[in-house]
Amino acid sequence: MDQTVLLLLTVSGITASMSEIVVVEEGSDATLPCSLGNNDSIKQKVFDWKKDGQEGRQEVFIYARGDYYGKGMDGQDQQFRGRVFHFAEELKNGNASITIRDTIVADSGNYTCIFPDFDPHRKYYVWLTVHYILKDRSAENIPGKS
Ligand SMILES: *[C@@H]1O[C@H](CO)[C@@H](O)[C@H](O)[C@H]1NC(C)=O
Ligand SMILES: *[C@@H]1O[C@H](CO)[C@@H](O)[C@H](O)[C@H]1NC(C)=O
Ligand SMILES: *[C@@H]1O[C@H](CO)[C@@H](O)[C@H](O)[C@H]1NC(C)=O
Repeated sequence: MDQTVLLLLTVSGITASMSEIVVVEEGSDATLPCSLGNNDSIKQKVFDWKKDGQEGRQEVFIYARGDYYGKGMDGQDQQFRGRVFHFAEELKNGNASITIRDTIVADSGNYTCIFPDFDPHRKYYVWLTVHYILKDRSAENIPGKS
């Protein structure tokens, strides 16, 4: 069950920026919202999703004027390969949301959606929590299973 709530983040009492919280259960899909908030097309723009990690930021997804990971681009973090998709039909509405399929607990963390074409860059924040669920994991632990 996807659940999204809004959080008001106050940084040093001066800047207030909206951050979204997304909570899902392990194994389900998570949609991370990001939108310019007007209806201007971003088909010819760039947006870059990164995740804060212990060893710096991980590359989650990049869309660059029609190219993206899996189509004409590489450099995506191994953890996200083949699991992250944008919404092609939504680009014309300025919507840079992505879906992470088949989430794992390690996907939990803070994500930033960056539009580098703007000066200063536009950034949006999403905090994803993937809940561990009890299930039979014996099939995952068979030695030698690829
Ligand atoms: C964007 O387009 C939708 C659908 O046409 C409309 O409902 C919405 O009000 C528009 N938003 C802005 C910010 O123009
Ligand atoms: C962006 O697209 C996603 C996927 O269709 C949708 O869930 C979300 O509501 C859209 N966001 C806006 C602001 O329209
Ligand atoms: C995500 O960011 C919030 C606000 O900056 C912070 O309180 C929280 O600890 C971060 N979560 C993780 C998993 O890093």
